Amino acid sequence: MKKLLCPSIMNLDAEDLKDQILRLDAAGTDIFHLDLMDGSFVPNFGMSLSEMSLVRRNTDKLLDVHMMVNNPVRYVDRMADLGIDIIYIHPEADSQPAFTLQKIKDLGKKAGIVINPGTSLESIRALYPLIDYLMLMTVNPGFCGQLFLPWMEGKIDQAIEEQKEWGFPLVIDGGVNEEVMKRLSAKGVAGFVLGRLILFDQAETDYTKLMHWMRTL
Ligand code: DX5
Ligand code: ZN
Repeated sequence: MKKLLCPSIMNLDAEDLKDQILRLDAAGTDIFHLDLMDGSFVPNFGMSLSEMSLVRRNTDKLLDVHMMVNNPVRYVDRMADLGIDIIYIHPEADSQPAFTLQKIKDLGKKAGIVINPGTSLESIRALYPLIDYLMLMTVNPGFCGQLFLPWMEGKIDQAIEEQKEWGFPLVIDGGVNEEVMKRLSAKGVAGFVLGRLILFDQAETDYTKLMHWMRTL
């Protein structure tokens, strides 16, 4: 299975965003991961819409948006207009996630669910027929550079079994490092959000070398 390498763009400085996007594109990025926050669902602010638009103008690769906002249905049209390909919503933030997922699909976009560490798979299973991707948070969302929560392991194993039946790729977001990528990729996790530990805080700064190395893990 080809790994999906998804650099988390919130980690980058706005100053040289364009240059970094071009470098990440050339290095083999599969999906650019864009974190949107409202200061309410999570106690922080993520990328701006103008930064997201800048990313869109500088790559033809897939873009995903991770909507850490309350009532995400309000912003789904905006995300589609910005040219985002995959729209992830937190069902914890939405009173009618089935409606929102269907709206995303009706806009011609891929629909994803992302769940917090404390949210069970049982609570979202009824939505599986509507989703194209499932993302599991392996940190509490809101901040870059946190450590992978080891108690997520049981839920990851369960999700791997369920995705085999349904076919949607499983993606991990938060605290991905060399050991986590190696172990989870061997088990059947397809996608990894690349943050501080595995990409942006490495001594090696050549993204091409780093992504080549990740594909060997
Ligand atoms: C955290 C964000 C992540 C974050 C990942 O709330 O959703 O996408 O950027 O960064 P690391 O891997 O450093 O935890
Ligand atoms: Zn994210």
